[in-house]
Parts: sequence; structure tokens; C-alpha cells
Amino acid sequence: MDGLPFSRKKRLVLKPNSRLKLIPLRQQLPSEKKMNADSEPSNVKRVCVTGAAGYLASWLIKRLLLSGYNVVGTVRDPANEKKVAHLWRLEGARERLRLVKADLMDEGSFDDAVMGCSGVFHTASPVLNPSFDPKAEIVEPAIKGTLNVLRSCKKNLQLRRVVLTSSSSTVRVREDLDPSVPLDETSWSSVELCERLKIWYPLSKTLAEKAAWDFCVDNKIDLVTVIPAFVIGPSLPPELCSTASDFLGLLKGETKKFQQHGRMGYVHIDDVALCHILVYEKDNAQGRYLCSTAVMDNDKLASFLSTRYPLLPIPTRFELINRPRYEFDTSKVRSLGFEFKPMEQMFDDCVTSLVDQGYISSSLA
Ligand SMILES: NC(=O)c1ccc[n+]([C@@H]2O[C@H](COP(=O)([O-])OP(=O)(O)OC[C@H]3O[C@@H](n4cnc5c(N)ncnc54)[C@H](OP(=O)(O)O)[C@@H]3O)[C@@H](O)[C@H]2O)c1
Repeated sequence: MDGLPFSRKKRLVLKPNSRLKLIPLRQQLPSEKKMNADSEPSNVKRVCVTGAAGYLASWLIKRLLLSGYNVVGTVRDPANEKKVAHLWRLEGARERLRLVKADLMDEGSFDDAVMGCSGVFHTASPVLNPSFDPKAEIVEPAIKGTLNVLRSCKKNLQLRRVVLTSSSSTVRVREDLDPSVPLDETSWSSVELCERLKIWYPLSKTLAEKAAWDFCVDNKIDLVTVIPAFVIGPSLPPELCSTASDFLGLLKGETKKFQQHGRMGYVHIDDVALCHILVYEKDNAQGRYLCSTAVMDNDKLASFLSTRYPLLPIPTRFELINRPRYEFDTSKVRSLGFEFKPMEQMFDDCVTSLVDQGYISSSLA
């Protein structure tokens, strides 16, 4: 069930260079309730976010700072102004953000960042198409890097919980999909199928999440994983990451990248960040949490987008790919009180920010 409201044909009204307003919280996080009650951030805690300069991590840090946390972010090069300047502009960053150098492939390099933190949000993972050697460029850094971060976590006696950013590609790459049974957190992608199809990103995320579960069970680390669908929304980093630039390509009329997706779940970046914080804060959160607003075929996505943004040259037809149909069952995260933002807001916020950043002309959106 996609439940897409196609009837709304209202065009997005955008002012050129309009500043993106902070999207209001639709649900209060436990940390905010406590802060509001005391009017002081009485429960300020230190948490670490790996891959801090990335698309998702930057938004997560923005939300953590707004919720009163002290944040230690890891980046490969804290001195690279171009990569980190947007983080220093976040509200609260000057007072409560520290950036630390760490690389997934350097054993022990997360020790300093993680030490003294009660929570670790591990988001860093290569998200790119391999150019030469997929195992070396994607699979190894994802698995080795995750274990490297977790080994640092193990040394930290103050650690309460690790939240790992997984991906819906760890759930949906299977040959035995039954269209009548929505996929939930019990589903795992087939490693054999990923290898056979040479789809390295799903392989890397599946093996990394499995390795994390094994390590955390063996070492009694409290692990919760968030499993986002394709993330849509404003990009804080000025340079678009690979998924955001794929989406921009679609809005500009390219079919190539989206062709291969066939069918995909989509979710607002703010929902993904809030979901990470919620499952970190809720004591009763456990296991894996799918995070997806709606699952759509390319044709349905394109039809929705071209109705909403009629002046953009969005492709209307894709080659038919014979792939099994699936849906996601997100009742587990919703049972924690989580509400997803409407699809219209997800795409409007994304398009607005692409206009603000000059990627799309305001006269077209
Ligand atoms: N975007 C989506 O649609 C989507 C959907 C589901 C799950 N996810 C997951 O969300 C997480 C963040 O992805 P994103 O979309 O925000 O992409 P991104 O902007 O490319 O972020 C990836 C981050 O990983 C870091 N990284 C890569 N290799 C590293 C290494 N060897 N050492 C240290 N850091 C390294 C990158 O650091 P640099 O900045 O230094 O390159 C970057 O900060 C990933 O775990 C991804 O699998 C994303």
C-alpha cells in the first residue's frame, strides 16, 4: 500500500534564495521533554557521530545539538574547511561540537572520539559506486570500519548504546519476495544474490550489519540499528552525496541511475535523524528499525514528482524491470510513537534546498 495522494496538484512556491526554515518537530524526543521541563539541558550527554561531514550525519548532528547534546564528530580531515564549514555553522556547534580525526581503515583511530561518550551513532560507510576494486573500496571499509568503531566502543566503560546506520538494502535484496507479505526487520538480504548480481553497496551494508550484531552479542554491547530507505531532503554539505545527486539527476531528466532502482522506499532525512535519536533515547528500543515513508516504483515516483513540479523535466517512462514487488512494514518504529512526515513535505523540502543551493533554477521548481 503506497497511499500516495496524487490529487494535490499545487505547485511548490519558492522564493529565489529563500532560506530553508527549520522543519518543526512533529514529535517530541524524550531529551526535549526533560529539557523543556527543567528549562535547562540537565541531561546533557556526550555522544559520538562517525562520518560527521556526511549528508545524513550532518543532519543528525544538527538535531542532536538542538536536543542539547554534546557531540563529538569524526571526520577524515577536520582541517578541511570545505568539508566541515557547514557543521560549524550549526546552532550550538561552537559550544557543543568537537571534531576528531578518524578513518574507518585505521585500527584504534576512533578510541579518542568514542571515549567518555554515552552513545555512539555509527553512520560512516562508503556510499559510492566502486571504480576499480569493489571489495577494497566499499566492502572492506564497511565491515572492517564497523568492527574498528565497535572495538573502540568496547574500551569505553561509559557507553550506554550504539546506534548503527544500516540500509534498506540489507532487507530487500532477495529472490523469495512475497508481494503479499510486507518486509519487516526479520528480513535479511541474500549475500549470495548480492555477490551474484555484483551489487556491492547492499553486500557491504548487509555484511557490516551482520558483523556488528555478532560483535555486540559477543561483547555485550547494547546495539540498535536504523534501516533507512533512500534518503530524501535538504543537504547541509554544499557538495551533494551520491544519492542526493542521483535524485537531482532525476529531477533534471536523467533516467539512468533511477532505472536500476526499479522499486524503492523513500524517507525524509529529518525523519531518519529523529529516528536515530529516538531509538537511542528509548530504553525499550531493541534490535533493528526500518525507517521508510513510502515504497514506490520508478513510474509512480516520476508521476508524483512531475505532477507536483510540472516545470521540471522529470522523465515519465522507465524501462520495465521484472523485479518482485515488495512493501515495508514500519510498525515497529511507529510502535515507539514515531510518525513519518508526509511525502509531499519530504520532496518539497528537498527541492527547496536544491533551489537554494543553486542546483535547480527557481523558475523551474
Ligand atoms: N543516502 C541514503 O539514501 C542512505 C540510505 C540508507 C542508508 N544510508 C546510510 O547512511 C550513512 C551515511 O550515508 P550518506 O547518505 O550520508 O552518504 P555520505 O554523505 O557519502 O556519507 C558517508 C560518510 O562516510 C564517511 N566515510 C566513508 N569512508 C570512510 C572512511 N574510510 N573513513 C572514515 N569515514 C568514511 C564519509 O566521509 P568523507 O566525508 O570523508 O568522505 C562520509 O562522512 C551510510 O552508512 C549509508 O549506508 C544512506
